[in-house]
Amino acid sequence: MKIAVTGKGGVGKTTIIALIGRVLRDRQDSVLFIDADPDMNLATVLGIPPDMHITPIIELQDLIAERTGVTKNTPAPLFKMNPKVDDIPDRYAIEYEGFKLMVMGTIQKGGGGCACPENAFLKSLLNYMIIARDEWILLDMEAGIEHLGRGTAIGVDHMLIIVEPNGTSTETAHRIRRLADDLLVKSIQIIGNKITGPDDEQFLREELSNFNILGFVPASDVFKKISLRKSSPLDVDGKSLNPIEAIVESLSRIPVES
Ligand SMILES: Nc1ncnc2c1ncn2[C@@H]1O[C@H](COP(=O)(O)OP(=O)(O)OP(=O)(O)O)[C@@H](O)[C@H]1O
Ligand SMILES: [Mg+2]
Repeated sequence: MKIAVTGKGGVGKTTIIALIGRVLRDRQDSVLFIDADPDMNLATVLGIPPDMHITPIIELQDLIAERTGVTKNTPAPLFKMNPKVDDIPDRYAIEYEGFKLMVMGTIQKGGGGCACPENAFLKSLLNYMIIARDEWILLDMEAGIEHLGRGTAIGVDHMLIIVEPNGTSTETAHRIRRLADDLLVKSIQIIGNKITGPDDEQFLREELSNFNILGFVPASDVFKKISLRKSSPLDVDGKSLNPIEAIVESLSRIPVES
């Protein structure tokens, strides 16, 4: 199954996708994380040591130039929109503690130039992985709605919108929904995060009555500690993982549209 997380900044997208990966890995499922947020920090949240150097795909300039058919550092009016990418995941994903990770990286738009070949390459790569790879693909996306227009997550089976119990994150959820519907995203699901009690759940149910709510994750120091680098998703104890397991269960019960 291929899943992307979206939502307003800071709602917990990276934390939740990392924890979902942890639950799937514990089930012996094959997991490939993709950090598609230009402000990449999934590797850090997963607790991958900095000395395990990860090259963001976008930095493979010679390869991108070769595959898209352009010469490096020259204007690129013509380039291949569908470069060969099928060998990239196996060559460039790193393995750590039973899962794989690929980092897309930040596209530099230097000097008013167009990063079109780089964009085409990343988009082809994401599309390829979403369509062709036979494993769980867990995509961490950048905050907000702007990237939806680039269409990088259109082919996913489920788009998870993470919300906090406040009106600004639910407002963003409604905006994402409108765009995702226009883009024919197959399934849109809500996860309520940082929940402090039944009132928070009730608030989200009312604000998001036209969505399916997959589950709620409590506000908890266990999760907060991950961002303080005092813990990793792999250390989280079984009881704290219960809400995440319930979410994975609910997700597995939703039929996947082909
Ligand atoms: N359930 C939770 N309980 C307590 N703290 C949480 C919870 N979920 C996330 N956090 C904290 O919220 C902060 C933001 O989390 P995270 O980085 O996962 O959000 P994000 O949506 O990926 O942010 P960004 O938009 O910057 O990518 C972090 O400090 C994280 O530890
Ligand atoms: Mg994030």
